[in-house]
Amino acid sequence: MLMDMPDARSSSPRLVGSQAGEDDASFETRLRPSRFDEFVGQTKAKQQLELAITAARSRGEALDHVLLYGPPGLGKTTLATIVSQEMGVAFQQTSGPLLQIKGDLTAILTNLQDKQVLFFDEVHRLQPQLEEVLYSALEDYKLDILIGQGPAARTHTLDLKPFTFVAATTRAGLLSSPLRSRFGLILRLDFYTPEELAVILHRSARILDVPADDEGIRTLARRCRGTPRIANRLLRRVRDYAQVRAQGRITGPVANDALAMLEVDEYGFDEADRRLMLTLIQKYEGGPVGVNTLAASLAEEPDAIEEIYEPFLIQIGFLNRTPRGRVATSLAYQHFKIKPPSAAAAPQTSLFEE
Ligand SMILES: Nc1ncnc2c1ncn2[C@@H]1O[C@H](COP(=O)(O)OP(=O)(O)OP(=O)(O)O)[C@@H](O)[C@H]1O
Ligand SMILES: [Mg+2]
Repeated sequence: MLMDMPDARSSSPRLVGSQAGEDDASFETRLRPSRFDEFVGQTKAKQQLELAITAARSRGEALDHVLLYGPPGLGKTTLATIVSQEMGVAFQQTSGPLLQIKGDLTAILTNLQDKQVLFFDEVHRLQPQLEEVLYSALEDYKLDILIGQGPAARTHTLDLKPFTFVAATTRAGLLSSPLRSRFGLILRLDFYTPEELAVILHRSARILDVPADDEGIRTLARRCRGTPRIANRLLRRVRDYAQVRAQGRITGPVANDALAMLEVDEYGFDEADRRLMLTLIQKYEGGPVGVNTLAASLAEEPDAIEEIYEPFLIQIGFLNRTPRGRVATSLAYQHFKIKPPSAAAAPQTSLFEE
């Protein structure tokens, strides 16, 4: 019998990047942990949240507002859903780009259920005039609305149900300080270690019913840019490969072959990361070069470079951000086997210390 097998060869390297398609979305939902005990790593953020939740629950109050920030795919949305589950309250989601009109925000706020979580994704894209509306809602659960028009218009203050605003952003630096000051908990998510990613991958393999041995899992865990979303996506691509070429089982050699075919190298770089580093090294002699210039050369958005590619390249010490622009480090030259100019920068690993 002929089966309709997914053809792993047609997978472009971009599939391991950060843009999620329809199919990816349902896959992510299946693998998304729904309780703290399934949520691996991020110990500090988890501890602070668990403590605050226990305290809020015992007081019978809504949890303080929470800001989650960090690169894409590290678990911000997941943590927001876990917060609502652990608090035993309703969950509702919106986002900066989605919410454009004041009336829509007013409608959401006035319809909130007691103590519920309002999850706001991409909060750095919140419209300034909506931000104003949010301030008093966040501060004391009150909303000023204007009733009537012209001289007869008057403001009326509505009481809102207590609620928890959980906001997520990849760019905490773009938030205004009045908004930032309204969060009781501000939590940064970091890249995961290969050991933590191995635990995540074992769980995902179990859920997806993919046979995989330790070595296969460890191979994937080292090459997913410290990011659970990419880990899970690689698992799916490698599963396809194993199914077609290796009787379905993901072993170390199978994972290695599959990743080579997908052009994911030993650092987990895909085509886009390599293109960025090589442009920086070859076209701009290692920098410094401004992010806008770099983005124009790559036909990418500067935001994508700052939010998606750079954080990991900085984390592993391939790229430095300097006041004059982006600079390739000596480590990057080594990796690409290119002779560095004598002044190639040393990696600034100190950037990632707490
Ligand atoms: N700590 C974790 N343990 C297990 N799985 C995780 C963890 N964090 C994330 N994941 C997995 O990675 C996927 C992506 O996580 P999530 O959608 O929460 O990331 P995000 O930070 O919201 O990303 P974005 O910035 O793109 O919105 C989830 O579907 C989940 O399966
Ligand atoms: Mg998210």
